[in-house]
Amino acid sequence: MEWKEAAALGAVLACIKPRRYGRAKAAKGAGMPLKKLVAGNWKMHGLSYDLDEVKAIATASAVYPGVEVALCVPAILVERAARAVPGFAIGGQDVHHAEKGAHTGCTSARMLLDAGATLTIVGHSERREAQRESDSEVKQKAEAALSVGLDVILCVGESLEMRDSGQAVATVTAQLDGSLPQQLEGEAWLAIAYEPIWAIGTGKIPTTDEIAEMHAAIRNGLVDRYGSAGQEVRILYGGSVKAANAAEIFAIRDVDGALVGGASLKNQDFVPILAAAASAG
Ligand code: 13P
Repeated sequence: MEWKEAAALGAVLACIKPRRYGRAKAAKGAGMPLKKLVAGNWKMHGLSYDLDEVKAIATASAVYPGVEVALCVPAILVERAARAVPGFAIGGQDVHHAEKGAHTGCTSARMLLDAGATLTIVGHSERREAQRESDSEVKQKAEAALSVGLDVILCVGESLEMRDSGQAVATVTAQLDGSLPQQLEGEAWLAIAYEPIWAIGTGKIPTTDEIAEMHAAIRNGLVDRYGSAGQEVRILYGGSVKAANAAEIFAIRDVDGALVGGASLKNQDFVPILAAAASAG
């Protein structure tokens, strides 16, 4: 097949791809808690043989229909993972904001979608730091992903220095304000992941009061931006979430799920977190 024909076929397939996770699905009804979303971020982990782990996690997640589950894998694994677990949400970890062009090594939103992803992470602190991604770039990435119909998990979070100097809430709300897409429209959903940088991969987590305070501030920011639709945007907590602390975290007001790093790599570590989310309702 010629490249142009293949590209055209890809565009057609992307258009007819059934969407199972529309934004409206996040809400259980007016005033009801949002359906919990638990997403794994595999970061730079995962080779072909890890597809068995993807399959095990997808199979186990079917036991918890009240929880929405996704795995965000390295871009190069997206297509194989999506083929391995049809109907299970596979995501990427970043997109370029441009539709196409001279951006060596980058992946566009439509490429991820074409490979079978239904969602992507944007603005993870590891990219904000290492790739010096600014709030406005993160905003552009979120808008690019939503515009092609990819669901988006947009990350924000403060450094230890900001936390220790009493600037955590101010830092995160400013980051949120600069990174949020201008508007929410279309089928795809947006979720925010609050990930304190000092809690990622360290085993340390904020107190429940600190998480509650930050999630309330993020909720206010979302409602300021989107009005009542801001109440439907799920706010995930991320940073050292494990089976041992998941139930306590999910019980906190305005914690609508989790973005999980290390504990999402293995079925036996991840599935108890799904069970905790299911019990939290
Ligand atoms: P850990 O769960 O390994 O702390 O990672 C959190 C994270 O960065 C998820 O995006």
